[in-house]
Amino acid sequence: MNRSTINEILKEGQAFIESFGYVLPPFAHWTVDEWAAKKAQAGAIIDAGLGWDITDYGLGTFEETGLFLFTVRNGLEADLKAGKGMLYAEKIMISRQDQLSPMHYHLVKAEDIINRGGGTLVIELYHREADGEGLDTSREVTVMCDGMPRTVQAGGRIALAPGESVTLLPKQYHAFWGEGGDVLIGEVSTVNDDNTDNYFLDKLGRFPTIVEDEPIHRLLVKDY
Ligand SMILES: [Fe+2]
Repeated sequence: MNRSTINEILKEGQAFIESFGYVLPPFAHWTVDEWAAKKAQAGAIIDAGLGWDITDYGLGTFEETGLFLFTVRNGLEADLKAGKGMLYAEKIMISRQDQLSPMHYHLVKAEDIINRGGGTLVIELYHREADGEGLDTSREVTVMCDGMPRTVQAGGRIALAPGESVTLLPKQYHAFWGEGGDVLIGEVSTVNDDNTDNYFLDKLGRFPTIVEDEPIHRLLVKDY
């Protein structure tokens, strides 16, 4: 992706997030120079992978296949191993209308995906095969939506209106997109490592390759 495109997406995304009254933490607004001044003290932000994150899943067609994310907080691998401590993470994301986040599952992370406002969030669901990496096309999927179970056939879809959420557990394949408008999405999850815990059905990249065609507006997690 061109840096100029990333800068534009970032400014639009920030405005969309703030239009719902969601206030971002201070490090969201650090310029490149501020980052340089604070970097020595900002190790926890860097290590946890907090901040701006844009992905086109390596396909180069962000409008069709992509996601805009800001990681607000993220716990520690060591705590996860110990089974106590900071085991949680929070993200705020934008899935644009008809913009696909492709089919994937996680092995470690359970995640609540929350429609925080805008259009309808549609999520397609499968179990992963019990003895393979593919989609289980026979087993129905039951997920919890705001405390109530919802069951769909393999490949079935649930639609979340603003305020609604779903809990996705490890090995549950999911793909999602916005319908009827762009969607502000909250994510509350287990400690999250995007370098190791995203298993895509089709082999995709998670972070974009960036062409530096103009100055950086805000650093992405990938730039740290
Ligand atoms: Fe996911």
